[in-house]
Amino acid sequence: MTKQTEPAIHPFLYNNEWKESATGNTVDIYSPDNGNLVGSVPAMSQDEVNDAVNLTADVQENWAATEVHERSDLLHRWADELDSMADEIGAMIQLEVGKTFSSAKSEVKRTAQLIRHTAEEGLRTHGSFIQGDAFPGASRSTKAMVQKVPHGVVLAISPFNYPVNLAASKIAPALVTGNTVVFKPATQGAISGILMVKALVKAGLPKGVLNIVTGRGSVIGDFVVTHDKLDMITFTGGTATGQHIAKQASMIPVVLELGGKDPAIVLSDADLKKAAKEIVGGAFSYSGQRCTAIKRVMVMNDVADELAEEIRSHVANLKVGYSTDDADIIPMIDQKSADFVTALIDDAKAKGATVVHTGAHEKNLLSPTVLDHVTEDMDVAWEEQFGPVLPIMRVESELEAIDLEKRNEYGLQASIFTTDMETAFTLSERMNVGTVQINGKTSRGPDHFPFLGVKNSGQGVQGIGRSIDSMLRDKVIVLNL
Ligand code: NAP
Ligand code: G3P
Repeated sequence: MTKQTEPAIHPFLYNNEWKESATGNTVDIYSPDNGNLVGSVPAMSQDEVNDAVNLTADVQENWAATEVHERSDLLHRWADELDSMADEIGAMIQLEVGKTFSSAKSEVKRTAQLIRHTAEEGLRTHGSFIQGDAFPGASRSTKAMVQKVPHGVVLAISPFNYPVNLAASKIAPALVTGNTVVFKPATQGAISGILMVKALVKAGLPKGVLNIVTGRGSVIGDFVVTHDKLDMITFTGGTATGQHIAKQASMIPVVLELGGKDPAIVLSDADLKKAAKEIVGGAFSYSGQRCTAIKRVMVMNDVADELAEEIRSHVANLKVGYSTDDADIIPMIDQKSADFVTALIDDAKAKGATVVHTGAHEKNLLSPTVLDHVTEDMDVAWEEQFGPVLPIMRVESELEAIDLEKRNEYGLQASIFTTDMETAFTLSERMNVGTVQINGKTSRGPDHFPFLGVKNSGQGVQGIGRSIDSMLRDKVIVLNL
């Protein structure tokens, strides 16, 4: 489906004008599939980033003064434009981040649905009214009107793996609540993010309400994050980057969705065929480059052999190739990430892990690898692999699995496979994670469910309703009658 377009510079949006950097500097983006140049984005200077944030701040009051139904209508029109550009944007996602075309297009369609749902939820945002007489010494004649008001200027920073969806899931709730937005896309994925914003401009985005900043996060990141006109930051990406941003941001609210090491805990009474299917889908989709990928299995000793064999048989059927082959396992985003995964596999093998399944590793295309008998001294037991390797750890008891889970630095999601619902709920309560999936793979959706990580997996909550909440603060007006 994908046709390689002529590599071009893709300008950033400033005041609804598409501009190149006055410096002439650009950042090149190469396809993970074949290393070809996909295109470039401007490497904006600090002055240009500064202008973008200032403009976003200048127009915020006017944007917040618009009626919420108008802002909601804009989102509906944006969703329609995205639907009509789904092939074009899907093709660019495929080129930039190496997803298959069908999964890239699904990302765009899912995003349109998310925006529509956000437009609807945004209409139903209300404050509250409190009477004073509940507190001793105050009376009913003192009344508080608690309004919900936007923070102001929101900086939205997205990761490479869902360059459209994880950008829009920040931008849409920000806009519908009256915030204006500075959008910093991941460099790998920036062109897809720019196309997504083209759809928003077509839908009637007023001038200055969203501006884009492009350039490497390592170069412009600290400057934009510490800009004094920012009122809130919403970020998805790696834990180290998120922690760095949180420190820099200091006093403004920051929502962070970070890494994970989601375990699948398989108990002796589980439906092993179903568990294996879910685990393989959860671990290897998009070659494991998902924060919510299942990143380790903890299985009871007495069913470990059978589960490992079920997992092996599913993994053996995964098609390894390129996004253009519609493969299940596609090249990793870059060579550095592939080298990291290879080092984890080598470390585990050297320390005694057994290889249940593997295959050829060529450049950044790694065949899926399943490791069994993984033990605590191996890096793959703890590090977020973000790639196509699945460690299996054998445990003696549920308590051992809970203990292993509790001692890891992440707390995004966990899956429990069992036919005993009472045990499932008991274990769920003991797990220090944002979400527990019972008899299903770890995953963010449906997109209106709350989505959060604890410990080093994040702070704050996303998911449509909660994302809207995060874009608002209380403003209290007290009537003293
Ligand atoms: P990343 O390297 O942390 O980058 C994420 C974003 O941060 C990119 O836009 C990046 O820009 C920007 N950035 C980098 N340094 C910055 C700085 N100093 N200041 C401001 N922005 C900066 O993450 P990634 O490689 O794109 O994604 C992989 C990681 O994200 C994994 O750990 C994964 O688990 C996590 N993730 C989590 C979730 C979740 O919802 N929990 C979802 C997706 C991904 P450049 O691209 O220009 O460097
Ligand atoms: O890594 C992106 C994260 O948000 C996962 O989303 O839908 O693949 O579970 P999903």
